[in-house]
Amino acid sequence: MIVSKQPVLRKFWYPVVQLARLGEKPMPFTLLGENIVLWKTADGVACLKDRCCHRTAKLSLGFIEDGAVVCGYHGWTFDATGACIRIPQQPDQKVPAKAKVPAYRTQIKYGYVWVALDEPLSDIPVIPEASEPGFRQVHQFYETWNIGALRLMENSFDAAHVAFVHRGTFGDVQSPRVGDRSIDEKPWGFVSRQSNDVKVRGDLAQKAVHTSDGKTTRHTESEWYMPFVRRSSIHYPHGLIHVLVTCATPMTDDTSMILQWVYRNDTEADVSTAEVIAFDRAITFEDKTILESCEADVPLSIVDDEELHMMSDKPGLVMRRMLTQLLKSHGESEQRLTA
Ligand code: FES
Ligand SMILES: [Fe+2]
Repeated sequence: MIVSKQPVLRKFWYPVVQLARLGEKPMPFTLLGENIVLWKTADGVACLKDRCCHRTAKLSLGFIEDGAVVCGYHGWTFDATGACIRIPQQPDQKVPAKAKVPAYRTQIKYGYVWVALDEPLSDIPVIPEASEPGFRQVHQFYETWNIGALRLMENSFDAAHVAFVHRGTFGDVQSPRVGDRSIDEKPWGFVSRQSNDVKVRGDLAQKAVHTSDGKTTRHTESEWYMPFVRRSSIHYPHGLIHVLVTCATPMTDDTSMILQWVYRNDTEADVSTAEVIAFDRAITFEDKTILESCEADVPLSIVDDEELHMMSDKPGLVMRRMLTQLLKSHGESEQRLTA
């Protein structure tokens, strides 16, 4: 699926940056091949196409003044709606109505700036733990990977890779079998449940999962939200819960911004923020290395090639089937993908 060639993918919310990372300067980002620029305003965050309507300079090379972005080439100034509000060289003349840059919707949720390039078909996924008492949020990753977003999503529901890719952390190459996984399809994606025994190697891992044993059992309930967001709620014995939110925001056809944060029902005194990040970083780095070795894009038609699948590939196949239906219905009968 070449993401930049699928206009329906513009109709979803994507997290693009943690709000705390937006500074004094306009920030460039590439979403689905579209160059955009973001900056903080008094009401929230503005997002425009990163292309001045005068002589096409990138607005992200300019600066912010009074909540508006000033083009670094000749100073034309644009507000959050994309309207040009000032041409400094001719202050006495009216700014032409045509002097406008496309503006995009933004929302701030879970401490992140979310952007939709067109009217969204669904809302930003609801993460109950974000507002439940007893959970803390740890921001874990914000990095560009050289891989298409669908590859990352299918990997995050792929129990079969754990024994091999994660043999240095929590996988066990001697136990490659995986348990049954249920998949309950929804208009917006699916809910999946699975239980797995995993290794707990080293002091950091034991601290992170609150055990002094070398192994534990994880009961996982995960949702896939079309197209590229996963919420994975992992329950350990003794009541520890990790809720991982993993987003593969499609930048180009073969690069994705990986944003991940976690909600945990323990405290800084149990495991520090730095330790939580280090624990999951070691695991995620194993995924990065192997994923970036794959071809970035994957044809949706792989669903038809039955001999090349294992039982445990089912989530990725369901994703492809649902995305194929979404792409087919685009322009025919677009419905909001609500529960
Ligand atoms: S190109 Fe932006 S003001 Fe001239
Ligand atoms: Fe993994």
